[in-house]
Amino acid sequence: MEKDITILAVESSCDETAAAVVRNGREVLSNIIYSQIALHEEYGGVVPEIASRKHIEKIDQVVSQALLQADRELEEMDAIAVTYGPGLVGALLVGVSFAKSMSFASGIPLIGIHHIEGHISANYIENRDLEPPFICLVVSGGHSHLLVVKDYGEYEILGKTRDDAAGEAFDKVARAIGLGYPGGPKIDKISKEGNPDAIHFPRARVAQSEYDFSFSGLKSAVLNHLNSCRMKGEEVNRADVAASFQKAVTDVLVEHSMHAVSQLGYSRFAIAGGVASNSALRSAFEKACREAGIAFYHPSPVFCTDNAAMIGTAAYYEYRRGVRHGFDLNAVPNLKLGER
Ligand code: KG4
Ligand code: ZN
Repeated sequence: MEKDITILAVESSCDETAAAVVRNGREVLSNIIYSQIALHEEYGGVVPEIASRKHIEKIDQVVSQALLQADRELEEMDAIAVTYGPGLVGALLVGVSFAKSMSFASGIPLIGIHHIEGHISANYIENRDLEPPFICLVVSGGHSHLLVVKDYGEYEILGKTRDDAAGEAFDKVARAIGLGYPGGPKIDKISKEGNPDAIHFPRARVAQSEYDFSFSGLKSAVLNHLNSCRMKGEEVNRADVAASFQKAVTDVLVEHSMHAVSQLGYSRFAIAGGVASNSALRSAFEKACREAGIAFYHPSPVFCTDNAAMIGTAAYYEYRRGVRHGFDLNAVPNLKLGER
């Protein structure tokens, strides 16, 4: 039997300070997340300076809790993994510096992880049968990527957003209809009381690029609708606006993804990232995949939004590929997927 590989993972790329202990890539021994949402809520979005300061305050405690809950000592770890990009530079730096210090003090190898690779890998945690190759749609606050997971750590990007990320569109529309931050979960909730066919918002296509996305036109269409209601003195039905917007986003994501699956002939499809916890999106994909006769994978909501367990899972496969980083590892705010 192969030796167990246990990894301590740290994630601080945005507004969650997180640490986890993961065994053999798919067994989460602990998953601690300190969410800063309440702090950023009053500003209507993440304030980078506040995020970095809070990470500094919390990281030590979050990492200690992750080891404690896993009932492990730092010395028992085979590697220390950390998200080094993409994300907010000040926020990333806290996790990277902390992980480097732990690695330096303990002699345990350091592995830097790409945040999107983490999101994709979240699918491995609860789906023990899932293995590459498969197609994955990553939709979060900062990214919308449709890609082929060719092998562990090997990706081919088919398409991405030309402007706003899907989560960003949710957050901006939520703000416009007065729901506050973060918009995704709030739109998800209020949409349950609305009619998704009440208003027809545009489903944008990007010319000559069948897999790319564009959400800024949709956001403008929602703003125009709100303005026109105001000018006519009509009351805005927030639930209808939210549900119709959510359906427009979902339709585009499902259509592009299913097109890729059928064109490229894959039998497995997965979703990842914060927006992947959206209930309408999940049911739409469940239905589309059932109809197409392909297997549909998705992480539980807690593994969709930012967490460190997904970083520990990604790190296991990087570890097995022999990836190790030196103490010159730095935060890379615009790190490209596949770059090392
Ligand atoms: O993956 P994530 O935690 O952070 C990034 O890497 O960006 O994603 C956060 C994004 C936010 O835009 C948030 O509004 C969105 O995910 N989100 C949702 C839901 N839960 C979180 N969007 C739609 N429906 C949800 N239930
Ligand atoms: Zn994320």
